[in-house]
Amino acid sequence: MTESLPPLPPVLVTRRLAPGVLERLMSSCAVTLHDDDLPMSRAELLKAVVGKAAVVTTLDDVVDAEFLEAAGPGLRLVANHAVGTHNVDLAACAERGVLVSNTPGVLTAATADMAWALLLAATRRLGEGERWLRSGRPWAWAPDFLLGLELAGTPLGILGMGRIGQAVARRAAAFDMPVSYHNRTRPADETQGGPRWLPLEELLAQSQVLVVSCPLNAGTRHLLDAERLALLPAGAVVVSMTAGVVDEEALAAALDSGALFAAAVDNFEREPEVPAALLAQERAVLAPHLGSSTLRTRQAMGNLAVDNVLAVLSGGAPQTPVG
Ligand code: GLV
Repeated sequence: MTESLPPLPPVLVTRRLAPGVLERLMSSCAVTLHDDDLPMSRAELLKAVVGKAAVVTTLDDVVDAEFLEAAGPGLRLVANHAVGTHNVDLAACAERGVLVSNTPGVLTAATADMAWALLLAATRRLGEGERWLRSGRPWAWAPDFLLGLELAGTPLGILGMGRIGQAVARRAAAFDMPVSYHNRTRPADETQGGPRWLPLEELLAQSQVLVVSCPLNAGTRHLLDAERLALLPAGAVVVSMTAGVVDEEALAAALDSGALFAAAVDNFEREPEVPAALLAQERAVLAPHLGSSTLRTRQAMGNLAVDNVLAVLSGGAPQTPVG
């Protein structure tokens, strides 16, 4: 008599992963991959998740009670391929005993680098300059051509001093920028000479350049509305690394009125939609959610998501649990 092997656990992967990552999952799971450049529609997602034991999701996949209901009682893990988890209803997952994991730590350096790429592009008007050249419009070097904002000595404010905020702050030392920050909780011991904690309103009042790197949650959604943006010094620059914290319409209005010198935005509230009001602003540097997009980081994120799936499906705990 031949004994058949138990079937491999079914796992849904909602987007293609970085090269080399999926193969590890395929060796011990029956993988369903949505192999496309665009995310699934909601209806496709709800159909694809039926009967799965684990799912690797991205920020585009809304994991709520309806999703969990569609998946059925066999679902054990939602492995979010992101550090953020605002697409996941953590309470609904906990209620059903579904574990959730994310990919913290591995994307810190890449995301902090991108914050600086955007900060430099915005303060030195790189987008405007490049568009100018590509448009074929005549130009000539001139003492007053596309004057930017110099960084040395300019106060940098960081909203959200988690791993990414700290990495942004470390890089600021190389640019001779004094750093202050705001976090929900004030640290008990502050290093002398290191970044200074300030109440939010005070931080805004003195940040000539502000980097937004706090997570999006109910407490931070539209934290930077028109009223709070108005607290920034005249001619400030805002670099947004978390969609939903800065009110996009208010940001566009502050650029339009000249209250801000420039802004840079890496990701958007209703991706892939980019607000027309921001597209219309010459002084807005707009990036298509590139914060963690290096080969090394995307492989590390994918591998961490896969490690979490493999751990949970073999009866263990995820390495990077959420909640
Ligand atoms: C953002 O892109 C994240 O990984 O949360």
